[in-house]
Amino acid sequence: MSGLGGPVGVAVVGCGTISHEYLRNLTSFPDLRVLFCADLDMERAKAQADRYGVPAAGTAAQAMESPEVEIIVNLTVPAAHAAVATAALAAGKHVWMEKPLALDTGTGAALLDQASRAGLRVGCAPDTVLGAGLQTARRVIEAGTIGVPQTALALMQGPGPESWHPDPAFLYQRGAGPLYDMGPYYLSALATLFGPAAQVAALGRRAREQRVIGSGPRAGTVFDVEVPTHVAAPIGYQAGPAATVVLSFDSPLRRQGFVEISGTEATLALPDPNRFDGEIRVRATGADDWTVIPAAGSTAGRGLGVLDMARALRGGTPHRAPGELGLHVLDTMELIARSITAAAFEPVRTTFSVPDVLAADWDPQARTVA
Ligand SMILES: NC(=O)c1ccc[n+]([C@@H]2O[C@H](COP(=O)([O-])OP(=O)(O)OC[C@H]3O[C@@H](n4cnc5c(N)ncnc54)[C@H](O)[C@@H]3O)[C@@H](O)[C@H]2O)c1
Repeated sequence: MSGLGGPVGVAVVGCGTISHEYLRNLTSFPDLRVLFCADLDMERAKAQADRYGVPAAGTAAQAMESPEVEIIVNLTVPAAHAAVATAALAAGKHVWMEKPLALDTGTGAALLDQASRAGLRVGCAPDTVLGAGLQTARRVIEAGTIGVPQTALALMQGPGPESWHPDPAFLYQRGAGPLYDMGPYYLSALATLFGPAAQVAALGRRAREQRVIGSGPRAGTVFDVEVPTHVAAPIGYQAGPAATVVLSFDSPLRRQGFVEISGTEATLALPDPNRFDGEIRVRATGADDWTVIPAAGSTAGRGLGVLDMARALRGGTPHRAPGELGLHVLDTMELIARSITAAAFEPVRTTFSVPDVLAADWDPQARTVA
């Protein structure tokens, strides 16, 4: 493969929802050639190939047989990520993975071992970490604008996706929930800015054991919730900073993309880590308002990580959304989930009765005692 030159040949495996954004972008980059669309569902693979001008469609195995394909872009569902990637590596292809890298850290580590033994690359989403927003924030922090980073607060909350998603049960099963589905964006952003995490603890709960599909032909169908739907985790980073991350599908209020980094000199507000664009805001100690720093860099969208990996392949340099980061984020999520189950918390030993609420017209000036 390394003998090939010119644009890098790629095949997309998994032609579902997110393949639209990938195919739109990948087919627009001059350094790539999208050669094949594959899916379990042949109609779907063919339809995406036709829609985006890709010359061939078929099975994943056929995509991996093509000698011109150098990178398999794995956009299958999380439960299929590892099997598709293992087959691609065995066929001598580099692999770009959608998140999460795998369902568990052991499987993810085995994938990276297989790649390293074969001299092949693994890249992993989210490539939002390569977008203008996060890259600008990184440059601002590295320039010393906020002083030495100390803490971070990250928050994503909402009622959960079952109101709009027509088939949402999988989002409440192993490998999903707010931690595994949305966590990669927030944890990858923090890891990109702070480096590796050192320790985690977490509290998790679920508001309801069952949920109801809210739209589509199966609206009204009840399904079971298998995972925590509210996760709160303190994370300590090797370099020193401490983050508090809250990921919740248990909130009537929707609020997402909240990430603030506080340093010794200023607080920095990041754009939504699930996006490539957005502005950076900085507020120095004592300042009355935020200073806005425009984001500089690409906002092209999903697929930037594949492009970066392809260029790195030709240039013989490291790619910037590596499988190692995906594995570290997966490991961090698995340990957060384990901490929730182990519930290794210090029980508080005392209790008290909550006093009655004061009446709204409680009047300190009234004479009420004889
Ligand atoms: N939907 C989004 O907004 C979104 C955003 C970012 C990331 N992602 C990630 O992208 C991935 C795919 O998500 P999606 O929403 O597109 O899912 P999807 O269910 O819409 O599409 C997945 C596709 O993969 C195919 N597939 C499954 N197993 C396969 C196999 N073994 N071989 C070949 N094809 C196979 C399915 O037939 C389906 O067409 C997930 O990892 C998800 O976390 C999704």
